[in-house]
Amino acid sequence: MPFVGHKREAKRYMDALEIQRYWDEKATSLKTDPAATMKDVILRSLEIEAIGTRLQPDDVLLDVGTGNAFGALQWAETCKSVVATDYSPKMIEAASEAIASSGRTNIRVESANVLDLHAYADQFTAVTCVRCLINLTSLSDQACALEQLARAIKQGGRLFLIEGIAETFEALNAARLQVGLTPISLNWHNRLFVQRDLEAELAKYFEIEERVDFGEYYFLSRVIHPLLVHPEQPAFESPVNTIASRTWRSGVARGTFSRLSTLMLYVCRRSG
Ligand SMILES: C[S@@+](CC[C@H](N)C(=O)[O-])C[C@H]1O[C@@H](n2cnc3c(N)ncnc32)[C@H](O)[C@@H]1O
Repeated sequence: MPFVGHKREAKRYMDALEIQRYWDEKATSLKTDPAATMKDVILRSLEIEAIGTRLQPDDVLLDVGTGNAFGALQWAETCKSVVATDYSPKMIEAASEAIASSGRTNIRVESANVLDLHAYADQFTAVTCVRCLINLTSLSDQACALEQLARAIKQGGRLFLIEGIAETFEALNAARLQVGLTPISLNWHNRLFVQRDLEAELAKYFEIEERVDFGEYYFLSRVIHPLLVHPEQPAFESPVNTIASRTWRSGVARGTFSRLSTLMLYVCRRSG
């Protein structure tokens, strides 16, 4: 039924436009605010740290879907140079403002869509991409984006990819239900990866060297914290979440709650 196929394609196209508009609006209202691209700024700091501690001083880094460059600016303190890219014109404006006011000279911002990175082919020793691919509306677009990310990386270089995983998101909600909490709803503009699909696509271009989870943080901030403050809503910036982040940093329970970690960092080495 070709007509049904066309209607589905048209809807995906409209959704993609809506998602880009959503990011433009976020940048317009929140500009250089760290919360512009994720309300949970403590979790965001863990993401930045998990990647930052793995970058090298001689890395030439491409950050794809950089938002307002809040993370890219911190990675620029370690790397030789950083090119921060995004497809939202308003995010580019916010990133330019943040870079200008930082005074750093080893980072620049450019407009680029993750679905077409041919201009960057084979130029980088490291590529970061944090919660960008979950904004694409199909697995085929997500697979295309992974190929584009791979092409930007020199042989032997590394991809640092943080994305949302469907199975761990569901496990977290199952745990919440079990203790009497309501499930967390998925943002309308997010399409999580089925882990096996993501890893199958990654395996086409990379060796997966590490899977880093934030499970302890998820368990404490999304299960224990809401129980503690019930019936109030837990605030993202709260002492409990700070303690959760310290627990993650300490490594004392590393791996114990990995199955509840919606976001996962994949550290991947570009193979032949
Ligand atoms: C959830 S935010 C994450 C931003 C940043 N990486 C961070 O860690 O906070 C997703 C970002 O990806 C960008 N983005 C979404 N789809 C994109 C695409 N097709 N090409 C390039 N950037 C895209 C959005 O404009 C937004 O800035």
